[in-house]
Amino acid sequence: MPRRLFIAGNWKMNTNAAEAVKLAKAVVEKLGKVQEMDIAVCPPFVYLAQVAAAVAGSRIAVGAQNCFYENNGAFTGEISAAMLKDVGCRYVILGHSERRHVIGEMDELINRKVLKALSDGLDVILAVGELLAERDAGTTLEVVSRQVKRGTEGVGKAEMARVTIAYEPVWAIGTGRTATPQQAQEVHAMIRSLLAALYGNELAQQIRIQYGGSVKASNAKELLACPDIDGALVGGASLKAEEFAGIVAGGMK
Ligand code: PGA
Repeated sequence: MPRRLFIAGNWKMNTNAAEAVKLAKAVVEKLGKVQEMDIAVCPPFVYLAQVAAAVAGSRIAVGAQNCFYENNGAFTGEISAAMLKDVGCRYVILGHSERRHVIGEMDELINRKVLKALSDGLDVILAVGELLAERDAGTTLEVVSRQVKRGTEGVGKAEMARVTIAYEPVWAIGTGRTATPQQAQEVHAMIRSLLAALYGNELAQQIRIQYGGSVKASNAKELLACPDIDGALVGGASLKAEEFAGIVAGGMK
């Protein structure tokens, strides 16, 4: 079976309540009936419930941008996977480069979150990607495979089927500088062969690998045409419904 494309909008720390609902409604209006691929929006925590209500009854799913690995208790400022389920999330993005490099999250912490999110029923988007210095030093494949391996440590086969890997070269995020389809495809193919080594070829062929980093309507088509690119994790361009819809259109056969 061919892999279904999966396009997710990562709104990051943007919008206010009114804007979040307005954007969610505009996404539903343009994309709420799309059958050919999976689509999700990932607003800030505080607007999740309102966005979930705004997309209810459509094919648009909701994801969060992070979560913690404990159920509840004295963890000031943290949000559990169960809480995210409770407000209508299907997905959670973990290991985003801004969490790795701005907040300082390490592979081990990300792995604990991945395990907890999966066991509590959230589907995970595990984001990985090299820094510019790492690419220049020729260590891209090494860095990315370490992030994939450590991030998924202890994840069993059944749960791995609910993981999407998002390859996002850090130098391409929010910079307007996209990886070329060839650069992206090379890393995606490496990730898939790593997944095959870890989980067997059959499962590796089913796991979706999104590309992220300055994806927009004008470059989506050529990226999504690559054999191992199974969707996009979209930041800036997901804040405009029109542009986001243009990316989805780029994935239509
Ligand atoms: P960008 O962000 O599309 O604004 O580059 C992508 C991401 O960080 O997920």
